[in-house]
Amino acid sequence: MIFDTHAHYDDKQFDKDRESILNSMKENGVGTIVNIASSYESNLASLKLTKDYPFIYAALGFHPDEIKELTEEKYADFTKLYDEEKVVAIGEIGLDYYWDTCPREVQAYWFEKQIKEAGKRNLPICIHSRDAAEDTFKIVAKYADQIKGVMHAFSYSVELAREYVKMGYYLGVGGVVTFKNGRKLKEVVADIPLKHLVIETDAPYLSPEPFRGKRNDSTKLNLVVAEIARIKELEVSEVIRITTENARKLYRINEGDVDE
Ligand code: NI
Repeated sequence: MIFDTHAHYDDKQFDKDRESILNSMKENGVGTIVNIASSYESNLASLKLTKDYPFIYAALGFHPDEIKELTEEKYADFTKLYDEEKVVAIGEIGLDYYWDTCPREVQAYWFEKQIKEAGKRNLPICIHSRDAAEDTFKIVAKYADQIKGVMHAFSYSVELAREYVKMGYYLGVGGVVTFKNGRKLKEVVADIPLKHLVIETDAPYLSPEPFRGKRNDSTKLNLVVAEIARIKELEVSEVIRITTENARKLYRINEGDVDE
């Protein structure tokens, strides 16, 4: 069964058919999903999804585009949610210099603050990094001895991919690997051993070809798996088996814990 390591089923694009889509996962070969929070509301919605669906887990945290209203007091109060069951990571957290909705030093502050929280709680982190390769790497490297996780929607060079893998990070591969202009990610997938890769949708975003631009969901991951299998000259079943094993290691979910 496929493990979707990064999805946003709390997104309003799923308001009309969330239940029917999620109920169709099993028959489409998707065994486990980690729903990733970004805003305060999406943290609460992610927790609710973990209660409604046995195969959904959650990563809680504040995306760099969602930290404008965050205060020390609000965050301190928020951290009690990490004690909830089925919270498997802190994310998505990081730096976004593409949208740049917050001053960069403020982004760095909350990124590090949440990394330290992960350290305290011994949780992995899901990192969002857009147009911020150098600063993200500097911060992650600073804590690399203690904290591991995943580089979500990895979009940087092969050289940087190797550095993250050396630090014990997984790289998240999604729909972009099927794009005609996805050459950079195809090179990363070709270079990095499969045991360091996990698959993800980022649903409702980043649909693989031929659905590019349309709403994404985890049942489309077979297209991502097929492209990875093609690049690495492996059986599809082997790609699913290994990436699912990697995802379980990343989020520390035992095989028996998941109802598939
Ligand atoms: Ni995301």
